Parts: sequence; C-alpha cells; structure tokens
Amino acid sequence: MKLLRVATAAVLALAGHANAVSTFEPARPPAAPLAVRAPYLNVWLNGPNNGSPSGYLAGQWPRYWTQGIQAWQGFIKVDGKAYNWMGAAPGAGNVDQESLKYTSTRTTFTMNVGGLVRMAAEFFSPVYPDDLRRQSVPFSYLKISVVSLDGRSHNVQIYSDVSGEWASGDSSQIIRWEHQEADGVLSHKFYRQNQDAFREANDQASWGSWYWSTGDIRGVTYKIGQDTEVRGQFLSNGTLDNTIDTNYRAVNDRWPVFAFARDLGAVGRGGSASTLFTIGIAQQDAILFQGQGSSAQQVPSLWASYFDESELVPFFYKDYSYASQYATNLDNRVARDSVDAGGDDYLTITSLAVRQAFGALQYTGTPDNVRVFLKEISSNSDIQTVDVIFPTWPIMLYLDPNLIKYTLSPLLENQESGHYPNKYAIHDLGRFPQALGYPQGNDEAMPLEECGNMIIMMLSYAQKTGDVDYLNEHWQLMAQWAEYLIEDAKIPANQLSTDDFAGHLANQTNLAIKGIIALQAMSEIADQTGHTYLSGKYSSIAKDYLNFWSRHGINRASVPSHSVLQYDSGATYGLLYNIYPDKALGLNFIPQSVYDMQSDFYKTKANKYGVVLDTRGTLTKTDWELFAAAVAKPDTKAMFISLIAKWINETPTWRAFTDLYDTNTGEYPGNQFTARPVVGGVFALLALP
Ligand SMILES: *[C@@H]1O[C@H](CO)[C@@H](O)[C@H](O)[C@H]1NC(C)=O
Ligand SMILES: *[C@@H]1O[C@H](CO)[C@@H](O)[C@H](O)[C@H]1NC(C)=O
Repeated sequence: MKLLRVATAAVLALAGHANAVSTFEPARPPAAPLAVRAPYLNVWLNGPNNGSPSGYLAGQWPRYWTQGIQAWQGFIKVDGKAYNWMGAAPGAGNVDQESLKYTSTRTTFTMNVGGLVRMAAEFFSPVYPDDLRRQSVPFSYLKISVVSLDGRSHNVQIYSDVSGEWASGDSSQIIRWEHQEADGVLSHKFYRQNQDAFREANDQASWGSWYWSTGDIRGVTYKIGQDTEVRGQFLSNGTLDNTIDTNYRAVNDRWPVFAFARDLGAVGRGGSASTLFTIGIAQQDAILFQGQGSSAQQVPSLWASYFDESELVPFFYKDYSYASQYATNLDNRVARDSVDAGGDDYLTITSLAVRQAFGALQYTGTPDNVRVFLKEISSNSDIQTVDVIFPTWPIMLYLDPNLIKYTLSPLLENQESGHYPNKYAIHDLGRFPQALGYPQGNDEAMPLEECGNMIIMMLSYAQKTGDVDYLNEHWQLMAQWAEYLIEDAKIPANQLSTDDFAGHLANQTNLAIKGIIALQAMSEIADQTGHTYLSGKYSSIAKDYLNFWSRHGINRASVPSHSVLQYDSGATYGLLYNIYPDKALGLNFIPQSVYDMQSDFYKTKANKYGVVLDTRGTLTKTDWELFAAAVAKPDTKAMFISLIAKWINETPTWRAFTDLYDTNTGEYPGNQFTARPVVGGVFALLALP
C-alpha cells in the first residue's frame, strides 16, 4: 500500500526522523537521482513504499531503478559520536536532514549533525552533451562537505561503503575484489568472478568491474570485509585498519563491503572541509550488435578509445573541478532557458529529467563511428526502441543533435545490411545489451509509428547540423518507408501506436497525422537530395491526406471542436501530440487553426494532474502532454506545466520519474514505466526552432 508522502510529524516519527522536516527544492521528487549516469549506473533514493516519507537520505537503502538494493552506507562521527547520513545499517541515529535540492546534474542533501556541524552530500552525475570523451565515462561523484554550526571546532570523521550488490543482480554470485592505488587515487575494485559478458541478472550487468574510489590523502583509511565488522570498526574507532579480507565469496555470504573513512580532523570556525568519492563501472565491451556482416560483433565502450582502464579512475577523480564548472554552466543554461520558456514550474520538470534521459544511454564504438545504444529501462528493457528514442528526441535536439545520428545509426546499419525483412521501419533491435535485430521480422510491429518517427528524426538531424550527406546516404531506406506511409497513413490499419498499453486500434487520428507529416518531411528530404519529382509527389499526397484527415479526424459539431481518437468517432478525444513535429521541423504544414482548436479544447479537459492521453482511460503521459503544450497557446501551455509540476510534488509514486500516471489520483499503475529516457520529451518547448 502506498500512502501520500505528507511530511507530518507523525509520519516522520515512524521513520525515525523525530525532529527533522526537510525542505525540498524545487520540489520533492518521487525519487531522487543519486548516481544516474548510464544504464548500469542508475541508483536512486526511492521512497520506501511503506508510508514513510521519501526524499530522506538517512535510514533507507539506495536502490537500482529495479528497486533492487544497492547498499551505499554513510556515517559521520562528530566529537566521537556517530550518526547515519545514508543507508539503513544499524549502529547510529540518523542526522537531521534540512534540505534536498536538485538541479539538472546534482542532488544535494544538507544535514544538521547534532547541532554541531552541517554536512552536505552532493550526488553529482555530470552530463557532457558536447564532449564525447568525458560523456563516455560511466562514473559519478559524491562530495561530502562539512562546516561547523556553532562556531566551535569539532573533530569529524566521514565513512562510506558500497556493497557487492552493485556488481551483480544475483546476490548468490561470487565476487572478487582488490584494493589499488593509481596516480594518487585509492580504489576498491570489485567484480563478478564469473564474467558473463552481454548478460544481465535482474537488469544489472553480469560483467565488468566496479570502482569505488577516494583520494590517497591525509586521514584516509580503508577496509574490505563483512558489513557488520567493517561498519562496527568505524563506529567504535572512527578509522579503519587498512585490511583486506581475501576470502572471496558470494555477494550475500557475510556481505562483503568496500569501505573508506576519512578523518577530517578539526573542522573549525569559518573553515570547511570536504572529501570526494567516485563510483563507476568499466566494461571493455559494452554491446553485442548485428550490424554489417553476417554475424554479431562486440562493440567496445567508447571510453576505451580514449583511456586504458587503469586511467579511468584517476582521470575522472581528478577532473572534478572541471566537471563541476561545466555542470554548473549546464545547470544554469537549463534553468535560464526553462524559466524563460515556461517559468519556474517548467524548471521543476526539466531539471529532474536530464540525468534520467542520459542515464539510459550507453556510449560505444569509436570517435569516428559513435554508436549510442539506448535501454528502454523498465518497459521490456528493449534496446534501441524507435518509439522510445522519439519521445526522448527533444532533449537531443536541445542539447546535442548529433545524438540523433548516434542513436539511429545502429538501426540504420542493421536494416541497410539486409537483416530485417519488412518494408516498414523496425521497432527495436532486441533486448539490451544484445542488439541482434529481428532477421525473421517478428518484432513488436508499429509500422506507421516507426516509419514516421525515423523520417522525422532524420530530417531534424540534417536540419540542425546541415549534414545533407546523411540524407543522401540513407535515401533508399527512407524512400522505402515513404512508400509504406503512402499505403497506410491515410486510413491506418488496425495496429499499435507507441502507447501500446492502450491496445490495437484502426484509424488512429493521432497516428495518421504523424504519417502525413512524415510524408511532408519526405518532400523536403527529396528536395534536399535532388529528387525533385518525388518532392512534388510526396507533398501532394500529404496535402490530399491532410484534407481527408481534416474531414474524418475532427469533431466539428462539438463545442469546442476537437480532434477525435479514431476517425469519425465524435465523442472520443486524446492528446494530438503528433502535430508537434510539424513545428519542430518548421514545416508549417498543419494549419494554425488545428493548433488553436486543440489548445482551446485541452483547457476544458484538465483533471487534477493533467489531461488524459485519450478517452480509453484516465492515464496520461508526461512526455506527450509537453509535446502538446509546446505547440499550444500560452495559457494552455502554462496549464499543462503547472499540473505536471504539481504532480511531481504531490504524487504518491515513489519510483524514478515516470512518464505514465493517473490524472485524477496522481498514482502510477503497475511496475513499468519508471526511469525511462522518454522524459527527454519534457524538453519539447526548448527544442522548437
Ligand atoms: C579500534 O582500534 C584499536 C587500536 O587500533 C584496536 O585495537 C581495536 O580492535 C579497534 N576496534 C575495532 C572495533 O576494530
Ligand atoms: C476507417 O476509416 C475509413 C474512412 O472513414 C472507413 O471507411 C473505414 O471503415 C474505417 N475502418 C475502421 C476499421 O473503422
């Protein structure tokens, strides 16, 4: 059972936060990103789902997006007394959390420790849209800073460990570990003994090595051993004895943990002390991919083009101040642009989405052939799902249009090498991390959806970058898809759209308009690539279809009039989010009157937290609401934004930002649709030309 997260004293007392009531800025997120940098480095502070308030770091375990615990424990000792600041290990009372703040790249908690010192824990996962070398390193920072609260000087020791749960989703697996020093950085390296490449257990990688690291500086001690023993040593002594238990064993066999402690010494008046940790995973080969050639190839992690594995940790660790500066610029850019486009509420939404969107991307290949694989986290774990890339696409347009090319490249290569028999566009390439495609053509067919998505995204990339060669190179495949659109976009067959939970339906108005816009996009593509005759053909068909669509897809009898879910079914309606690409591509093909009509209509249909996806239910989707909002009149835009920001603050949902929720209760149905990259779609307002 889930309870509303109301921060009442009674509820807080249950959770052991007797006095503390934290503030949340800009909102209390359903789950706070801690280390969210890549599909396998995706750790959150979720609500505990037991009625306790979420958003408090001390007293509960950080979790992978699946809800599997990835133990990450933090203690602090002040003048000999121990407190817990992260995790659920016994032995010390919790600190009093004062605030949780999030920006696009950071989640920062501040805590009052016994009225003596204030500590800040900054969980920082950088995002480097224009720096492949740095973006390719799947590591994350944790910085702890301490200041005196009462003007006196206090003796402070900091402790943090991670468990073997990070290295395997199956805790009966045996792990091995070693302690190393490289270039002034100490690491606990740990990994599954049985390296099972390109396989997962409970969605965690079954291969690669984890590195939990800190600087080799004054006051640092370490220990690897059983959880109770290692933590107990710090709790009683404030230091660790630098020993390594070499009895390699299963993750759950006397739970080995990998610990560092740092004695900050006396933290005094006006002074501030800090210590830095990093966590990450290194996999030489990341993805198994069926591209050119008759058999699948192992695609290396992109970082391997820039670094030896032994250089990764010191590089990332020592890059902190550059990373911090870069991230502050990015945070500020997102903040400025979001507030300009949609006010503070819009920033509440966008800044929660950045790490999550990039956290589903695996950077692979080589600098001259970058392939970014996307994991459809939580809804099947498919790889390279076209209708998941499409809703993610606005953040790519906004932050780096090259990402469109990098993510579409594996799809194009697979289909152009003859590995897919259908004439329409493929839906996905398989199950992450194996992108083997569907040589039998038996993928989850969404023909109109994916043909439209591919053409729209490909044109947008060429428009943003001026890379017309790209369109020439892939002309043949696009022209093949255009033939499918000519067949199906006018009267769409009974099929799925991306909202597949809603089921099959013929004559979907919103799907038809995507196909029609894609035909108009093909006209521009034909122009740019010198296929002049076809340009006229595509645009006259698109115009003809649009006329047909206007007669069957709009209910003009109702006041206000609106588009319908299915041709000629007057009482139905839905979000007509697929007109967004017309504006994003600058086609100006859909009459402004259609935008205005929808805008006026949505305003009459708002539930407590938003406008329903369509009349088949009370659910809606965050990404599609913001596609709709981006092309609506200012007051309708503001309405969508404020309802979604309200939902973020109030939802009883306790998992990572979902894109699917109930417009009346704010609840989120089922176990899927969490931590998905499609929240990149909330950048729809910022992706318009
Ligand atoms: C604390 O440190 C002392 C001296 O180094 C050592 O003898 C003792 O065993 C330590 N306590 C724990 C619980 O490890
Ligand atoms: C789809 O719409 C067309 C045009 O209005 C109509 O002729 C056809 O019967 C519809 N098909 C279905 C399955 O409703």
